[in-house]
Order: sequence, then C-alpha cells, then structure tokens
Amino acid sequence: MEKYDISTLNARFSSASPEEVVWHFTHTLGDKIALSSSLSIEDQVITDMMLKMKSDARIFTLDTGRLFPETYSLMDKTGLQYGVKIEIFFPDCVQVQEMVNTDGINLFYESVEKRKKCCRVRKLEPLQRAFSGLQAWICGLRREQSVTRQDMQMVEWDEGNHLLKINPLINWTEQQVWDYIRTHRVPYNKLHEQNYPSIGCQPCTRAIKDGEDVRAGRWWWESPEHKECGLHK
Ligand code: ADX
Ligand code: SF4
Repeated sequence: MEKYDISTLNARFSSASPEEVVWHFTHTLGDKIALSSSLSIEDQVITDMMLKMKSDARIFTLDTGRLFPETYSLMDKTGLQYGVKIEIFFPDCVQVQEMVNTDGINLFYESVEKRKKCCRVRKLEPLQRAFSGLQAWICGLRREQSVTRQDMQMVEWDEGNHLLKINPLINWTEQQVWDYIRTHRVPYNKLHEQNYPSIGCQPCTRAIKDGEDVRAGRWWWESPEHKECGLHK
C-alpha cells in the first residue's frame, strides 16, 4: 500500500530544481533515505548536492565485483574529498559461487536470461539488503537516457520494494549534468574522457562510437528494450 500521496508530491516537485527536491527529502526523511550511487555523473552531482546540504546524508553503492578499476578509484576519491563513507554492498558469495560454477564466469554474453540472472545475483539481491531500514531511495535517472525511462517521474512509488523513489535529475539533460560537474568541481570517472558516457560493470560496458546513443555501450549485444538490469522496473 502506498504510504505517500504521489500525485500531490509530484504536483509540488515535478518541475522543482534538483536542489529543492534533494533538500526536501533528505531533511524530512533523515537516515531513512539514501542515494543509490553507481558513481555515474548523475550520482556524483546528487552526492555533491546532498553532502553540501547535509554532511551525514547516506549514500550506498552496489559493488558487483565486476566494476572498472576507474570506478573503484572514484569511489575512493569521492569518499576522501567529501569526508564520507560510501556504504558498500557486496553480492552474497555463495550465490555468486553457485552461479559462476553452473553458468560460467561470463554467462551474461550467452542470453538475456543469463545476463538478468547475473544482474539479479550481483545487484538486486544486495540492493534488498541496502534497503533495510529505508523509507525512500534516490536515483540518478534521467528521462533523456533511454526509451525505457521516458515515463519516469520525479517522485514515484516503488511498488516492488515498497519505497518512495526520488529522481531529482529526471528533467535534466546531459549538458546540465556536465555543467554542474565542471562548475562545482565534482570528481568524475576518468573513463568518461575515453568515450564511455554510461558506465556499469566492466564486461558489460564498452566505449561508444561517434553518433551512437549514450547507452549504446551498455549490454551492447542486446536490443534497447532489454537494457535494464532490473533495478528500475
Ligand atoms: S542500469 O540499470 O543501466 O545499471 P544506470 O547505470 O543507468 O542503471 O544507473 C541508473 C541509476 O541506478 C543510477 O543513477 C543509480 O541511482 C542506480 N544504480 C545503477 N547501478 C548502481 C550500483 N552499482 N550501485 C548503486 N546504484 C546503482
Ligand atoms: Fe553481471 Fe553484467 Fe549485470 Fe554486472 S552488468 S551484474 S557483470 S550481467
């Protein structure tokens, strides 16, 4: 059952600035709200906004065990620069062990089903643990990112997880994100300078070529309508 009046919240916040949205929800929900960060440019912008407004705001990340070395460097650098501890959630080692022994270490290239299984074990299960004690989560989703994200709203009721879901950058363009990063000197993943606009796990992310869509390098062997890991249904 929805605990919140989503239409009233959207009437108030759907066109509000990201800062206003972040301020309102981090201050009304305290330690019951956290940013789910993949260390993307969007998540880094929200990290900067949140921590400047509330130095003990909560941020967690799902370390799938298959991230790029550059992503780990950024995790470290962000923690040091802002003086915070990003909470890190790992997949369950027994589940990973069973999966790789049954399906192989690089199962994701074999079928959409196996790719989704890997995302389930390495992201969705740890995400459930990250949600413990939360009433809301904040994500760096933008409508412009993909065909699968066109209908997303600033404030949503995440029925599957029984949580409020806040997308402060939902209306922003990629240009606005980069302008913020540069103006506020926010640390970002060095891979962005090598044609990686969207970064996930290393084996499932490649650089894009000129003219390609920003998410073309994510699960590039799959068709666009499949390109979600299940975090955002
Ligand atoms: S994905 O579904 O394709 O992987 P994407 O990389 O665009 O998602 O990220 C969208 C949002 O999902 C991020 O802004 C972040 O809120 C959340 N997210 C994605 N990956 C992670 C992760 N590894 N840890 C925590 N949050 C994540
Ligand atoms: Fe596994 Fe690739 Fe999903 Fe990462 S993105 S969890 S490596 S299938």
